[in-house]
Amino acid sequence: MKGIILAGGLGSRLFPITISVSKQLLPVYDKPMIYYPMTTLISVGIRDILIICNPRDIELFKYLLGDGSQYGCDFQYATQSNPNGIADAFIIGSDFIGNDQVALILGDNIFYFPSISDRLNLNTNFSGAQIFAYHVSDPSRYGVVEFDENNCVISIEEKPELPKSNFAIPGLYFFDQIVVDYAKDLKPSHRGELEITDLLQIYLEKENLNVMKMDKGTAWLDTGTFSSLMEASQFVNVLEKRQGLKVGCIEEVVYRKGYISKAQLLELAKKYSSSGYGKYLISLMNE
Ligand code: DAU
Repeated sequence: MKGIILAGGLGSRLFPITISVSKQLLPVYDKPMIYYPMTTLISVGIRDILIICNPRDIELFKYLLGDGSQYGCDFQYATQSNPNGIADAFIIGSDFIGNDQVALILGDNIFYFPSISDRLNLNTNFSGAQIFAYHVSDPSRYGVVEFDENNCVISIEEKPELPKSNFAIPGLYFFDQIVVDYAKDLKPSHRGELEITDLLQIYLEKENLNVMKMDKGTAWLDTGTFSSLMEASQFVNVLEKRQGLKVGCIEEVVYRKGYISKAQLLELAKKYSSSGYGKYLISLMNE
């Protein structure tokens, strides 16, 4: 399975912070925001990853993440000139996706989902779409999914004024290869965007949409407003301090997955030897 991180957009809800720098490069406590979605993809075993960003920011992303070989992964880059919608990622990424299944994660979505790999069944026969539902207090800010009494999905709506449920759809989606064709046939919504929820609607109509409710113990954090950005930092800070373990640490995940050796981890750690992040990487080698 391939992976796409959508890290474009104007970040206008965070102006002036994001006037000169991409939102997904802003810090969330001790690491750039994009480390979190990157770690989520890698932790489910995805190593071929396309990062889609603004033309303005592409060099900064490349400078930060390189070609991925240092992590035993392969990173590629593409640009999106205008924020035409989340489903545009499949059109921009169509050559990259080729005939493979694909996961899309939004570059500003942070998941703390320790059991994600156990709950997903992403074998090579995977077909249809797999998404999640997360109970929130303010569903009208999100895509909203409605279930019947048997837990079957009955509707999906984008930012409804009167939400039919409290279940928001987080920005992590898994699709079979047909998604590219469906995306190419989408028409822009009244907001002028190719909506991810319209794509999900197609899978729903074809009875090929699987929605998994996220466990109570998982966290899905939003970074779309000043407050939620700060709360995300506070959440990571509290968790890391209490547990002595890092969240969203790419180096740790690739090391534990066996994508890099101890010697390679040491090389990476040396780059950050004067920060707590580097010290943490060194500590992993002494386990
Ligand atoms: O966070 C989950 C929600 O994300 C979903 O529940 C919604 O269904 C989905 O539409 C989306 O809503 P948002 O209002 O959060 O979308 P936003 O426009 O803020 O874009 C989310 C991220 O994707 C953001 O980091 C910018 C990036 N993006 C967005 C668009 C529309 C792009 O890179 N290109 C785009 O064209």
